[in-house]
Amino acid sequence: MAIIGTRVARVDGYERVSGKALYTADWKQPRMLYAEVVSSTRPHAEVVSVDTSEALRVPGVEAIVDCKETGITWSEGEPARSRMLLDEHIRFVGEIVAAVAAKTRYAAHEAAEKVRVVYNDLPAVYDPEEALKKEAPQIWTSGNLRQIQRYERGFVEKGFQEADLIFEDTFRTSRFHNAAMETGASLAWWTGGNLTVIASTQSVTGARAGLAKDLQIPLSKVRVIALYKGGGFGNRSNAVNHDLLAAILAKKTGKPVLLEFSRYDEFLGSHGRWPTVQHYRIGVKKDGEVTALQLRAYADMGAYHRRSPEIPYIRGPPEFYRCPNMKLEVYAAYTNTPFTGSMRAPPAVAGCFGSESLMDHVANQMKIDPVEFRLKNHIIKADNKDEYTSNGITECIRKGAEIIDWKRVWHPPSQGPTYGSLNHGVGMAIGGWMARLVSASAIMKVNRDGSAHLVVGVTDIGGGAKTVLSMIAADTLGIPLQDVKVTWGDTDVCPFAPGETGSRTTTNVGLAVKVAAEDAKSQLLAKASQMLDVDPHGLDVADGTIFRRDEPATRIPLSKVAETMPDAIIGKATTDPKLPSGKARFSFAAHFAEVLVDKEVGKIIVKRYVAVHDSGRIVNPLTAENQVQGGVTMGLGLALTEEQIVNKSTGYLENPSLWTYRLPMHLDVPKIEVHFVETDDPYGPKSLGEPPVVPVCAAIANAVYNAVGARVKEIPLTPERVLRAMNTTQTIPSDVNRRHS
Ligand code: MOS
Repeated sequence: MAIIGTRVARVDGYERVSGKALYTADWKQPRMLYAEVVSSTRPHAEVVSVDTSEALRVPGVEAIVDCKETGITWSEGEPARSRMLLDEHIRFVGEIVAAVAAKTRYAAHEAAEKVRVVYNDLPAVYDPEEALKKEAPQIWTSGNLRQIQRYERGFVEKGFQEADLIFEDTFRTSRFHNAAMETGASLAWWTGGNLTVIASTQSVTGARAGLAKDLQIPLSKVRVIALYKGGGFGNRSNAVNHDLLAAILAKKTGKPVLLEFSRYDEFLGSHGRWPTVQHYRIGVKKDGEVTALQLRAYADMGAYHRRSPEIPYIRGPPEFYRCPNMKLEVYAAYTNTPFTGSMRAPPAVAGCFGSESLMDHVANQMKIDPVEFRLKNHIIKADNKDEYTSNGITECIRKGAEIIDWKRVWHPPSQGPTYGSLNHGVGMAIGGWMARLVSASAIMKVNRDGSAHLVVGVTDIGGGAKTVLSMIAADTLGIPLQDVKVTWGDTDVCPFAPGETGSRTTTNVGLAVKVAAEDAKSQLLAKASQMLDVDPHGLDVADGTIFRRDEPATRIPLSKVAETMPDAIIGKATTDPKLPSGKARFSFAAHFAEVLVDKEVGKIIVKRYVAVHDSGRIVNPLTAENQVQGGVTMGLGLALTEEQIVNKSTGYLENPSLWTYRLPMHLDVPKIEVHFVETDDPYGPKSLGEPPVVPVCAAIANAVYNAVGARVKEIPLTPERVLRAMNTTQTIPSDVNRRHS
């Protein structure tokens, strides 16, 4: 274990920071064409006709596809309905109605502007509660309700009867966008009946499956390659619209076609996070024990929802609190707004903001220390019955409180230090995310010189998969890290890996790599045992040398063994770990923030941020810290400045640019202090990609409450919302706070 647990810089770090790394849209193919999409200017309409005659006369234009002709389904575009890749029924402003391929980007752009679409406008609806009313315009013939999701444990009414106090409150989360730095791009070409797509995907296997399904060709005829990635955060899973559009334009023209989304296309053609409205009712005993929690929520799915109907729309309360009586009801409705889907910890960011703001508010109203309140109510067993394989939540809370010096810095709301118009506040929140076990494969080849080649189907969207997997390979095989080369992201070459979604790579592909490396190692040791004439069980490898454990002087370089079986040592593994019944696996976190709130202008300045995580064993503390810092930074954007604003009378997205959709900048983000509680999980490292974004919004909102005594109940906490909350608190009570009769 020489490498695991050490701070290793990314194996591809130099390429990434020096500009040498090639991203999808950097690749060129001979004779390739450039594509551009044409999107709808209407929120809800039937397309009467598409006139491409003028566009086709633009010099260099080679093909146009439009919604009147393709007839191709985009299965992953809306798993609960049948979504056409290009539909004659327009459901939001920005829906793609046609795509043009031309010899240059300029010609493609000019032609796209000359495509004439005639619409028959339909009445539109932009609010999920409105969309569920009988008289609402029908976005889907089967109705605007995508689904009602329900969760129940215990008996919520009994829980309310046991309570001494009952509180009610409503929290709202806005529409956010994944806003990856790399916009969506696909470069596709056909060779005979074989399709190759270089895609900005999170999952080469997922993209291949979707392309094969929707284009109705066998998997063997589709090759998907992932190069360097500029993020994705959930909206590049499986096959996406630009993969399919590039493929059909390439087929129609017989040439390679690159479709690279502009930032405008990215904001409308790739999904973001769905907005929610969460109405809570909570019952608490005098000592702070939560006895009942009820949630009735609305989720705005937009025109389509790129997530399966089995996955919850709001997640968190049952997973964070042990409260025995819970009832959740989430109404997910379609509206004539941009489509939605997964974004980093998809349903948990909203669920955590709502429930952790609520818990904090209740603790404060009851004059109970918010840290003590969490310690009293946090989850212990999954669903109150299944033991976790490891559970560091208590330690995360305690450690974070100690690091931020909670007992010293916390004060009653609005009674802390002030600096002119600035009030000091401190807040905390707990959270977490699933740590799932799934199947994965890996191949570990040992070259005749003793170096090794790891082949894995990951994409490394930014989490550092190549680095962490190389570390596991080198460590297991007993060779230096620089002797491992990794090949990744190519369905024709690599074995199966789960998509880089759900924070599953280090755990699951890591296990496959470990077992494949062990397989290669045992082949080497078997050969070495013949050469040294000793029992293979007495042998081990370290630093590229095979030696006898009980007599380390008896040794032989690994390369000497490998050269006797030139390039013939191929370790391989397909792993499929399963949890025994009655067990659950989850990553936990507790976040603490210190803020200054300017009472005059409502601005929030984050002064200090402490994130404590239980993600089991940490393979690479450097990239793990980076994950948490990246996740918290993303969370700060959602907490403070990001919001996709859809005009509620026209359906237009008001801010489809990075100038107006405000991501956090360096000046907005303080140093993020990262600490780990390294629980010993028998199944290895736990998820870490998604957990760090979960508690941020609530930690900030709770710190703001502590600073100014006003509860902001909607993210992002813009200056306007902070000022409005401060005024509200001064005039009328913000909450129903009454004794149960
Ligand atoms: Mo993720 S939101 O599972 O890429």
